Amino acid sequence: MPSRKALARRLILPVLLLFAAVAAATWWAERNAAQAEAANDGVPQELAATDQDIKVYKTPWCGCCTDWVEYLEREGFTTDVVDVDQGELNDIKQQVGLRQELASCHTAFIDGYVIEGHVPAEDIRTLLEQRPDGVRGIAVPGMPIGSPGMEQGDRRDPYHVVAFDADGNAAIFSSHNQ
Ligand code: CU
Ligand code: CU
Repeated sequence: MPSRKALARRLILPVLLLFAAVAAATWWAERNAAQAEAANDGVPQELAATDQDIKVYKTPWCGCCTDWVEYLEREGFTTDVVDVDQGELNDIKQQVGLRQELASCHTAFIDGYVIEGHVPAEDIRTLLEQRPDGVRGIAVPGMPIGSPGMEQGDRRDPYHVVAFDADGNAAIFSSHNQ
């Protein structure tokens, strides 16, 4: 039998390593939680979707909304569609601080971000990859012909995807059909 002292000496390193591992894991979990909170800043939790799904709020009568949802599915997104009446939809837009000039038919959420209107999938992917500072969401204001879900033959009107922040500032995020 090893003496008590020898046993203690043999155990001290594994115990220290275990403490360090637990401390590191705790720090990592807290850091991730803080980051998730920061990304969700201003977007009410009950509206937001997970990072996997895009949650789309729309009115049941809107055909172009459904076309945009089907487009996203083809692009590999998992969608979660919630039909609401126009009043509720307007409340959601107001709740997330979307200015009226930026509004479109549907309002969607993914990974803490607001996606308003007929936004191309590539712009959503870019947003999630780059996570630009202070951006709360991106929008295609109105319903430009030739944007995803708004196809009309060969017509492709030029339009911008606009990034906006919590204070209502907006800047061009990308341009299409220029
Ligand atoms: Cu639409
Ligand atoms: Cu729509």
